[in-house]
Amino acid sequence: MSESLPLGRPVLGAREEELVLEVLRSGNLSLGRRLPEFEREFAARLRVSYASAVSSGTAGLHLALRAVGVSDGDEVITSPFSFVASANVAVYERARPVFADIDPVTLNLDPDAAAAAITNRTTALLPVHIFGYPADIPAFERLGLPIVEDACEALGAVHQDGVAVGGRGHPAVFGFYPNKQLTTGEGGLVTTTDLQLKERIDSERNQGRSPDMGWLDHDRLGFNYRLSDIACALGLAQLERLDQLLAARANVADLYRAALAGLEDLTLPCPDRDGNRRGWFVFVVQLPRGVERDAVVRALVSDGIPSKPYFPAVHLMTFYRERFGHREGEFPVCEDVAARSIALPFFPQMTEAQVDRVSAALTAVLRGARSDRQAVR
Ligand SMILES: Cc1ncc(COP(=O)(O)O)c(C=O)c1O
Repeated sequence: MSESLPLGRPVLGAREEELVLEVLRSGNLSLGRRLPEFEREFAARLRVSYASAVSSGTAGLHLALRAVGVSDGDEVITSPFSFVASANVAVYERARPVFADIDPVTLNLDPDAAAAAITNRTTALLPVHIFGYPADIPAFERLGLPIVEDACEALGAVHQDGVAVGGRGHPAVFGFYPNKQLTTGEGGLVTTTDLQLKERIDSERNQGRSPDMGWLDHDRLGFNYRLSDIACALGLAQLERLDQLLAARANVADLYRAALAGLEDLTLPCPDRDGNRRGWFVFVVQLPRGVERDAVVRALVSDGIPSKPYFPAVHLMTFYRERFGHREGEFPVCEDVAARSIALPFFPQMTEAQVDRVSAALTAVLRGARSDRQAVR
């Protein structure tokens, strides 16, 4: 068996070491100067007024939902084709995540389906820029409700009108887990153009303390969702090289697209259209209908190639079935895509030879599967 590939891998170098060591030597490991510096640099990069760094993308989504006023008994419309966190954060506030189906091409929440799901309890829309492809935020804006954008997978993505994803002014949340375009180990960040919203998030990430309050005096309920200065230093170093990191990911995606072009019944990530630009995060393909996905995953693993079903439909997860009574058939587009999708190894340093190896293995498995299907007919 050939050497195993990783599914993803961050790019870390001398600059990350230098900035992190400097924080360690300074002794200011949290709430030091790297936190506001990271926030300022990140906001400047997206041309947005403010940024609040937090301990994870999930923490950012939670605080952003609270900040737009979601609470007990409210409904938040979101995508069932996402990482579970985008729905969980509504449940944290005893609100109900209301799912609506996705667009079959972009795989993002469909604005028409979202519009049809609005009730008098709907307090917010939570579209997800899935796999780094810009969701149609202008269409959601026309629905006239507060929006929180889940941009955890979408750093580097750009809307049709040239505005960066996360730069439209609604609170938009990024995630910095090690598989992301930029990593701080664990971490997240909320962008906004609203100073009051930033101040509320800054307070709630720090146990509800206002910046001008005395030590251990708190005027509202808060959390410990702080991001350490160690993490912010890592983030600053990653920001310096973000253009290279994004370009390298886009290059790997191009290599995959070329190498897999011959497999007509395999669905590749949708190409950029109408001026929208993806910020490459993962390379997820949809297997042809009728192919047994687990068998494909097993065959790839035996060649040292990891892959994973990505994403399973959120509404069909055990917790969501049991808590909200969801069943198969509610969101047919999402369910069809979720049943056929796998994420292939994808990271900035991936070589052409590695992409070719994955593509050749997938091609061989699918050709084998096709002849089996033909034999059955
Ligand atoms: C779409 C989406 N939303 C939310 C999150 C949550 O981010 P974190 O893992 O940093 O809490 C992720 C991270 O994987 C994500 O992909």
